[in-house]
Amino acid sequence: MSKTWKCRSGGAVNGKTPGGAVTGTPRIDPVPVKLTVNGQTCTITVEPRTTLLDALRDELSLTGTKKACDRGECGACTVHVDGHRVLSCMALAAMQEGKRITTIEGLENDGKLHPLQAAFIEHDGFQCGFCTSGQIMSGVAVIEEAKAGWPSAATADVTGAFSLADLSSTEIRERMSGNLCRCACYPNIVDAVAEAAARS
Ligand code: FES
Ligand code: FES
Repeated sequence: MSKTWKCRSGGAVNGKTPGGAVTGTPRIDPVPVKLTVNGQTCTITVEPRTTLLDALRDELSLTGTKKACDRGECGACTVHVDGHRVLSCMALAAMQEGKRITTIEGLENDGKLHPLQAAFIEHDGFQCGFCTSGQIMSGVAVIEEAKAGWPSAATADVTGAFSLADLSSTEIRERMSGNLCRCACYPNIVDAVAEAAARS
């Protein structure tokens, strides 16, 4: 009598079912991605399913960008891609070929804080600090979006040109609404963005 045995789970053995079909998670070959991060061009090798957030933190050790919800709800992972704010937990690293990424680590200039970073300190715009890098990256983008004339859902009249002078606290609150702060530092965050906008 020949000796036979069964996989106890009834599943695959060495990636094959008893019928011979290939099962399980297929091996996904990593792909190289060339991108510029904070002014420095580099090539990373990542699985196609790797998020930009994980690539920044795990491949480049840029841990200033925070992972909180990891599902596009809190804004903690906000970075800039080609000058526009992006939730890095919702972007694939493999799609960033040739893109220019800026993280919180890239905002300072020659050891000097970005005006919005300085305003956050001045206005006490944080408590635990976990949301802060995302808040600052969003705030910088909000100022640029206002300068570029972008209206928001809070803009009363979208027929005229929007300008930086129109960036009221209501506008700032609306435009920063994708960035949650569990310490509820919202009034101080709005003040910091308003001051940096006024100075820019
Ligand atoms: S970690 Fe990306 S939105 Fe929350
Ligand atoms: S400062 Fe703590 S979550 Fe915003």
